[in-house]
Amino acid sequence: MKTLKQSWAEPYKIKMVELLKMTTQSHRRKAMSEAGFNTFLLKSEDVYIDLLTDSGTSAMSDHQWAGMMMGDEAYAGSRNFYHLEEVVKNIYGYKYLVPTHQGRGAENILSKILIKKGDIIPGNMYFTTTRLHQELAGGKFEDIIIDEAHDPENEFPFKGNVDLEKLEKLIKKYGAKRIPYVSMATSVNMAGGQPISLKNLKDLRALTKKHGIRVIHDMTRVAENAHFIQQREKGYEHKSIREIVKEINSYTDGATMSAKKDALVNIGGFLALNDWDVFEEARNMVVVYEGLHTYGGLAGRDMEAMAIGILESVNDNHIHARVGQVIYLGEKMIEYGVPIVKPIGGHGIFLDAKKFLPHIPQDQFPAQTLAAEVYLDSGVRTMERGVVSAGRKANGENYYPKLELVRFTIPRRVYTQAHMDVIAESVANVYGRRNKIKGMKMVYEPKYLRFFQARFEKLK
Ligand code: F0G
Repeated sequence: MKTLKQSWAEPYKIKMVELLKMTTQSHRRKAMSEAGFNTFLLKSEDVYIDLLTDSGTSAMSDHQWAGMMMGDEAYAGSRNFYHLEEVVKNIYGYKYLVPTHQGRGAENILSKILIKKGDIIPGNMYFTTTRLHQELAGGKFEDIIIDEAHDPENEFPFKGNVDLEKLEKLIKKYGAKRIPYVSMATSVNMAGGQPISLKNLKDLRALTKKHGIRVIHDMTRVAENAHFIQQREKGYEHKSIREIVKEINSYTDGATMSAKKDALVNIGGFLALNDWDVFEEARNMVVVYEGLHTYGGLAGRDMEAMAIGILESVNDNHIHARVGQVIYLGEKMIEYGVPIVKPIGGHGIFLDAKKFLPHIPQDQFPAQTLAAEVYLDSGVRTMERGVVSAGRKANGENYYPKLELVRFTIPRRVYTQAHMDVIAESVANVYGRRNKIKGMKMVYEPKYLRFFQARFEKLK
């Protein structure tokens, strides 16, 4: 079995650099206060190391940039669309492709096609945009992830697994007819980038097949999930990432993809399907919301970069170094005694804000507060994944998620090991003065996906 204890190094060298702005404490204080203590509202120029997201922030390779020059910008039937279609078929194994401008474009179309008012959509933990599209289409999301996923300290190796008993209960309660599909994600983002095992997925497939329920895969970070299967699941240690990715997809009926993550592009996504009827409807609907079915809101060059990015994303050395860097940062934080979600996930480190700031109650936004404090300390930008992200239920009440986290998301191929050291040191600094940190109140709240634009004030 391969082990992450072996040293890893980046399977690339740096050809071009982007200079960063170093900021002073007083500059950061002013910037944070103008941003309403929401890291989403900071100007990127005021940020030193940007760990807000791994979405659209990766570095493209020279091959991808060369591909950008090969864009066929025809309105219809661009050569790059056919290349992308071929790559999606070969690498991911889905039959039909509908490109979209990014992941949520695919979620919108899929939800509108498959969900009717009153439907139930079970899934292995919610994701913000995914659940919102399910709700806007008239459905209700039900969490069926295993309980271990809600416990930051539980070291179960596959915390992305579905609890099949929870699913069976839902089927019994509502009937299979009201469940259009199970919304299954690989590398469960809100749980801390936790993988689902192939065994669990096979069992999920068997159960859903019995009831005629589809499995729709959020495959945004499928290659990272495949890495953990290779490392941890018996029988897969000698399989390549490419083989594992294909096998994962083979137990599902279709997928939504934000190519801004795994697939190493700055913009793009798609809906991939095996079912001709659903594809036909999606191909029609994409014209309304995104653009013609051979570009879906993307330029030809974007589709070319995506096709090449997908091929690079399933390279074993790439994934080993990518996840290796995340684990390096997580282990540093553990050395400093900082409470993080364990096991360390694939795309970032998630600080446990409830444990970090136990004196701040959840309705004073401990994770939002902690993200602001880390920025003030060092100019490192992170993001809240707790009560603010969880939003409100249809009846207006807040969701109070068990997990109250701050996400340090690592862009792919962008930062170095020395950056990881600086980040960990800054968190250790904030941890050292945690007892003096006070919570916040929300002073502006938008209706949808409030975490993006909400504003806060520090409590005195
Ligand atoms: N699904 C997952 C698991 C995601 O992480 C995201 C985006 C989406 C769907 C939506 O895709 O942004 O291309 O429309 N996650 C980003 C993040 C925003 O920072 O985690 P999108």
